[in-house]
Amino acid sequence: MVNLGILISGRGSNMKAILSAVKAGKIKNVKPSIVVSNNPNAPGLRVASERFKIPIKVVPSNATKGWDYDQRIVSVLSEHGVTPESGLICLAGFMRIISPEFVRLYKRRIMNIHPGLLPSFAGLHAQKQAIEYGVKVTGCTVHFVDEGVDSGPIILQKAVDVFDWDSEETLSSRILKQEHKLYPRTVKLFVEGKIEVKGRKVFIQN
Ligand code: GRF
Repeated sequence: MVNLGILISGRGSNMKAILSAVKAGKIKNVKPSIVVSNNPNAPGLRVASERFKIPIKVVPSNATKGWDYDQRIVSVLSEHGVTPESGLICLAGFMRIISPEFVRLYKRRIMNIHPGLLPSFAGLHAQKQAIEYGVKVTGCTVHFVDEGVDSGPIILQKAVDVFDWDSEETLSSRILKQEHKLYPRTVKLFVEGKIEVKGRKVFIQN
């Protein structure tokens, strides 16, 4: 059994997609154990607790940074069984950069979803960056978190066409639909032990 911790800062629609897949029995041998937010007003918190009955915890960022802050998250995760040995942490719109200490502690056990085809358009506003650059195809990426920003080994990606009439909003919403499929699929592969990482490369067993 893999204990799952999800870190959010906002609406939590990717969190909801993962929790729905678990609830529907599409991902077995995983226990959603805790949802943590740095933002007390994150709408996703209510969804986790009321709709899915998952324990939630707010760890306000205030002025704490780096490992000082992350240690507090690690305590909450560990208390709920999301350990470096057997846990999985999904960043789902968590608007903080994870410290190297946190990454090293949970090596290859922290994933993130990014609304772009990495390594293109890393960082914030990936959809806007794609429109402004004029690409015809963008998409979304689920990757392991390493010590850089959006730079860890890529697990799965899905391409999404960019149309001439797209605004940041229309493109974001088409990408988001794909995110909601891609993230649960990736969690399922992880829980089933089908993901192997060699250096930067991720191999998926079929
Ligand atoms: C998503 O677009 C995700 O790719 C990015 O932040 C957004 C979070 O949305 N990392 P939500 O909170 O999951 O709805």
